[in-house]
Amino acid sequence: MDWEQISKAAYLGSIVLFILALGGLSHPETARRGNLYGILGMTVALIATLAFITGNYAVLLVGLVAGGTLGLVLARRVQMTQMPELVAILHSLVGLAAVLVGFATFLDVEGHQYEGAEKTIHDVEIYLGILIGAVTFSGSVIAFLKLSARIGGKPLTLPARHWLNLGLLIVTIVLGVIFVRQSAAGDGLNPLLIMAVIALLFGIHMVMAIGGADMPVVVSMLNSYSGWAAAATGFMLKNDLLIVVGALVGSSGAILSYIMCRAMNRKFLAVIAGGFGSGGGEASKGGGGEQGEAVSISAEETAELMGEAKEVMIIPGYGMAVAQAQHTVNEMTKALRGKGVNVRFGIHPVAGRMPGHMNVLLAEAKVPYDIVFEMDEINEDFPDIDVSVVIGANDIVNPSALDEPDSPIAGMPVLECWKGRTTIVLKRSMATGYAGVENPLFFKENTRMLFGDARESLEGVLKALD
Ligand code: TAP
Repeated sequence: MDWEQISKAAYLGSIVLFILALGGLSHPETARRGNLYGILGMTVALIATLAFITGNYAVLLVGLVAGGTLGLVLARRVQMTQMPELVAILHSLVGLAAVLVGFATFLDVEGHQYEGAEKTIHDVEIYLGILIGAVTFSGSVIAFLKLSARIGGKPLTLPARHWLNLGLLIVTIVLGVIFVRQSAAGDGLNPLLIMAVIALLFGIHMVMAIGGADMPVVVSMLNSYSGWAAAATGFMLKNDLLIVVGALVGSSGAILSYIMCRAMNRKFLAVIAGGFGSGGGEASKGGGGEQGEAVSISAEETAELMGEAKEVMIIPGYGMAVAQAQHTVNEMTKALRGKGVNVRFGIHPVAGRMPGHMNVLLAEAKVPYDIVFEMDEINEDFPDIDVSVVIGANDIVNPSALDEPDSPIAGMPVLECWKGRTTIVLKRSMATGYAGVENPLFFKENTRMLFGDARESLEGVLKALD
């Protein structure tokens, strides 16, 4: 039996399954099916790779068992609120793998005997693979540290940082030329090592320079980089499946970055160049100085207001994930709809800490898809809304994004709930959100604050609705 042909056919099958997986993941209704296609594609790919390999099975088995166990334990343990950090740290592993495969391929001179143009191409593959891998690795580690609040979200703005980046880029290109020349003469490890260090530093600098509110773009960009790192590994290992899958992840990550940029009103090219998002570097005080008094409201009063309303808009944010309030939100929605209230959900593209965060939580709680709307679909409806209920959201409903040009979130479209009749904000304190910007919404005349853990507050509201 020709194992090579069979495994190639299996690779093709798993590529198709991965494409179907990506297609399925684009909508909550088909996401579960998409995930199944992905699992199936990965199983086929693993079996095909195992069947094709003729080397040391013991090492492979140890790796598979160790990696599989670690993945299983992590996936079971991780809280929904920690998903973005987990994704970031997983991206870093793809980057690290590309770096290690790059060095291994370079040092394994017996594994390949290329000459002339072929050798140059192979060397460029190694160089690019290590370069992208190292940037992805260190950038993702910093993103992980920022997302898990182990380091602050404030942007690090070194003086002349754009020139610094440009300088690093030029040095990297020069080192690349030196590497290809030296490699042709049987040497080249030094330029490769120096470039790897520079790429690691660049990855750190790139993500450190990004302010809190712009992290969504970084997460999706690193997602894209991890795909290109995998594709580069595929070129080095001459593995078609890795090349295609890497390109799929790389390009879908790039599309997601573009969508995120649009949502945050940032320029895509500026993002790619890495010089964006510091917003002047200072967290704005939002409205500056005196803001007035925030007026609080009880759960019972909230229930009364909502029960009497015709139109209710629920705006979930990161705090809903922290409080795990989605199931109570669903119960409350059912109770209100039972009373004839038209309840809708308004989802901001960067609500929470990862793309689609809120949609995942609402789908988990079985909130009907047809009452969940994207920001663009409902933002103009707020003047007709009787009660907007902001559940653990902050930056995404901050009017200073529109009013204050100096704000770090300036220009970011937000859900304009203050245009409705009454807004009720559920949070535990007057603390700022992820971007560290104060929120004038809390002090508006038609805003009421329902203080406390979102789940507990909503349970109180639900009880009062009965
Ligand atoms: P945030 O602006 O972070 O606000 C969340 C609010 O929830 C906080 O002000 C907090 O106030 C409240 N909260 C926390 N735990 C709570 C609990 N148990 N009960 C009730 N309230 C609770 O969130 P957002 O409005 O969703 O905006 C998202 C932010 O994250 C944006 O700045 C975005 O750029 C950034 N970000 C997004 C992503 C993606 S891809 N979505 C990735 C990285 C960063 P208290 O402490 O007073 O309770």
